[in-house]
Amino acid sequence: MKKNINSIIATELKNLEESLSKSISSEVSLATEVSTYLVNSGGKRIRPLICILTAKALGYKGNKLTQLASSIELLHTATLIHDDVVDESSSRRGKESIHKKWDNAHGVLVGDFVYSKAFQLMAGLRNPKIIKILADSTNIISEGEVLQLSLKNKAIISEKDYFEIIGRKTAELFKAASQSAAVLSGASNEVIKTAGDFAYSLGIAFQIQDDLLDYFGNKELTGKKIGKDFEEGKITLPLLRTIELTSNQNKKTILKLISKKDSSSLSKVIEIIKGSGALKEVQEICNSYIEDCLSKVSLFPDSIYKIKIQNIVKEVSERKG
Ligand code: IPE
Ligand code: IPE
Ligand code: MG
Ligand code: MG
Repeated sequence: MKKNINSIIATELKNLEESLSKSISSEVSLATEVSTYLVNSGGKRIRPLICILTAKALGYKGNKLTQLASSIELLHTATLIHDDVVDESSSRRGKESIHKKWDNAHGVLVGDFVYSKAFQLMAGLRNPKIIKILADSTNIISEGEVLQLSLKNKAIISEKDYFEIIGRKTAELFKAASQSAAVLSGASNEVIKTAGDFAYSLGIAFQIQDDLLDYFGNKELTGKKIGKDFEEGKITLPLLRTIELTSNQNKKTILKLISKKDSSSLSKVIEIIKGSGALKEVQEICNSYIEDCLSKVSLFPDSIYKIKIQNIVKEVSERKG
């Protein structure tokens, strides 16, 4: 995704990388070592990209953008570190996850270190409206993760619950990335709302793709183990749609297998998903969010930055990594 953004924001992307590395350097060398391990292992940087491109599309010319974009990427980084502890995920960005390479204590504490760094950067912007957007968003993300946890041992969840979870845990940060950029640019309330709305829909589509890739992705491209959601008993849209569409017999099989959390039955479940027609429906739902997103982006004034945003949005609907 990052590769397709050519020279127009090359300087901003370089500044972002420098700022990320600098922000996580600490007098406590272990904090630097562990956080650098993840920050320097790539990542698509989609949230800071959205932040930078929104600000540019809305005419921002000031010097606070790197600070805002890095704060957002660090918030995301912290959630990943904690999420991998909670999900017991062994790989992230093609490498061992932090809690696997070190242990849970390192994951919890370095996750806190990265969160607090994000808040220091944010506070340095001295803009109460932006601080409120990011603080609220951080709170909503953690509520999303807790909600997901509270529903994890249920035999089934509703699609309403699913959208509530992904809205909170993923789409809210996309929304905050774009809204805070709009605020930084001095945009009107109407434009700030449009910025938030487009990015929220993008975040939903992004997480639906993540949930598809968890079953049908390639680990070389996602950098994560395939089949993790099923292994953990996490019910996502591909499974919810399959349960709607498949025979009663298959439905019973799926619910039985997922409650056992047995990864050896993944291939059986994949076969049922494929045979049910759910993939087409999930892709259609994802595309409807992409369409909604594009209709909101079209309200932005025309510019090369707007075109870049539109390209990123279109790429999300067919992303492989
Ligand atoms: C992973 O986010 C968590 C989800 C919301 C699915 P990304 O897929 O953006 O992760 P990186 O930053 O590119 O590694
Ligand atoms: C997104 O959910 C997690 C966060 C927003 C922190 P997932 O649990 O699906 O993300 P991955 O698959 O581990 O990246
Ligand atoms: Mg996870
Ligand atoms: Mg996932």
